[in-house]
Amino acid sequence: MKKIIVKLNDRSYPIYIGKNILSNKSLLGNIKSEKFAVVTNKKIKSLHLSKINNASIKNNQIILNDGEKYKNQESIDKIYNYLLKNKYSRDSCIIAFGGGVIGDITGYASATYQRGINFVQIPTTLLSMVDSSVGGKTGINHSLGKNMIGAFHQPIAVIIDTEILKTLSKRQFSAGMAEVIKYGIIEDKKFFNWIRKNTEKIKMQDPESIIKIVKKSCEIKAKIVSLDEREKNIRALLNLGHTFGHAIENYLGYGKWLHGEAIACGFLIAASVAIQNKTMSISEYDQIKDLIEAFNLPTKLPKNINVEKLFKIMLLDKKVKNNEMTYVLPKNIGKAYITNKIKKNIVIKALKDHVK
Ligand code: GLY
Repeated sequence: MKKIIVKLNDRSYPIYIGKNILSNKSLLGNIKSEKFAVVTNKKIKSLHLSKINNASIKNNQIILNDGEKYKNQESIDKIYNYLLKNKYSRDSCIIAFGGGVIGDITGYASATYQRGINFVQIPTTLLSMVDSSVGGKTGINHSLGKNMIGAFHQPIAVIIDTEILKTLSKRQFSAGMAEVIKYGIIEDKKFFNWIRKNTEKIKMQDPESIIKIVKKSCEIKAKIVSLDEREKNIRALLNLGHTFGHAIENYLGYGKWLHGEAIACGFLIAASVAIQNKTMSISEYDQIKDLIEAFNLPTKLPKNINVEKLFKIMLLDKKVKNNEMTYVLPKNIGKAYITNKIKKNIVIKALKDHVK
């Protein structure tokens, strides 16, 4: 089992990574809490809940509906109701057992229930293992925007059991790979090249390769979060492709494209803006494109997309300040930068160039 620490002084916490580690009694057993409850959905419950080797967690279940459209206040109320009815105190701990949606909802409920209780993340998708379960971003969607309501609230531990990935669909696995590739683009060229060389092994879920990509991704994320927990500066690099990606998800209707699919296409649009901004070479753009393609992720927007309308949706993003959009762009593979100096026509061209 591997262990990585997210260093945040008295709020530091471990990320445990390994195969079949959920059956390890001591991992959850060592967590002090007056009472536990697990938040999950029907599918995860039937596939994986039995793997948690702890009755006081397993027997107190809050079952939410599955999917991004349930990342709302109603799901939060469901958690509050359960906790209040069953007299959960401030010394309780809730466990997020699911993908990014469950993790974000549970984290936000734990940030706000009785002004904040402990929570643990047990992510069940590749995307949540390598990104959303680490770093304490919690929240729900609002009808006017994704992730618009939320709080920074760190978990007290993250437990990643890679065995769970075996039941993940190929499409969901690939969507998670988009976030893994992102770490290579923004921070680590060597890792990017390693992914290129090991694509087939990763796709076949070779256990060692899976542990390697999850560990490396978590190490990079832990380092960035430790340096800039509240996204005042470098944490924003983790949003590479996200301004474009969120707008694509919103435009097409949440769920049509998975988050990972939308941001993968977003990396290429960002890279194309960077080429026009003369900070990236075409050959590096091609390397990113080839890798995205190798994982069957989209490199083009659907045909007939209205680029002006997409741009308007981008302006609803949290990264807009004083009407200026902040962009995260790759400089070269392994390095990214943040700028608010990009003219609209450059972005529109990059978007147009990526319509099928
Ligand atoms: N998913 C980006 C972040 O956690 O900052």
